[in-house]
Amino acid sequence: MKKIYSSVGVLATKYEDELYGMAVAWVFQVSFAPLLVAVGVGKNRRTLEGIRKAGRFAVSLMSEDNLDVVLRFGSKSGNKWSGTQYVLIDDVPVIDGAIEYFTAEVVNMVETGDHVLVIGKVKTERTVDDKPPILYGEDGLIFIKDMEIKEF
Ligand SMILES: Cc1cc2nc3c(=O)[nH]c(=O)nc-3n(C[C@H](O)[C@H](O)[C@H](O)COP(=O)(O)O)c2cc1C
Repeated sequence: MKKIYSSVGVLATKYEDELYGMAVAWVFQVSFAPLLVAVGVGKNRRTLEGIRKAGRFAVSLMSEDNLDVVLRFGSKSGNKWSGTQYVLIDDVPVIDGAIEYFTAEVVNMVETGDHVLVIGKVKTERTVDDKPPILYGEDGLIFIKDMEIKEF
C-alpha cells in the first residue's frame, strides 16, 4: 500500500542473555486507554521468537540521522548488535539515538496472513528529540525535510 505512511524504527527484545532486533515500519497506536500499540511482524522473523519468549519488547523510532542503524537491523547479515549502543529499559533494549521510544508488555498476538500482529500495552514511553521520523510508504523510505504540524 503506497499511501499508508508509517514511522520507521527498531523493534527489539531480550530473553535471558539473548538480544533480538529488527527494523520495523508497521507500528501504530491502536488504543488510548489503555495505551496499546500494534506491530506487524513477519512469521519468519527471529525477533518474533524473542518476543514470544520474553513477552515484552521496545520500539525505538529513528530519524534520518540513524538510517544506518535502521538498515543494519533490517538485514539478516552479521551481528546487528555489535557496535550498537543501547540501554535496557524495563529489561528490553532501547537503541541510542531514538527520537522516541516505548517499552510494552505483550497483551495479544494475532496471526494474520504471513505476519503476526503483536499488540503491546505501553509501560514506558518517551519523546527524546523533535526531529521527524523516517517514514515508510510509496514502496520506499521517505525523509521529511520540512515538517509542518497543524493542530486539529
Ligand atoms: C525500513 C524497514 C522496515 C521494515 N519493516 C518491517 C515490518 O514492519 N515488519 C516486518 O516483519 N519486517 C520488517 N522489515 C524487515 C525486517 O527488519 C528484516 O526481515 C529483518 O532482517 C528481520 O530480522 P530478524 O529475523 O533478526 O528478526 C523492515 C525492514 C526495513 C529495512
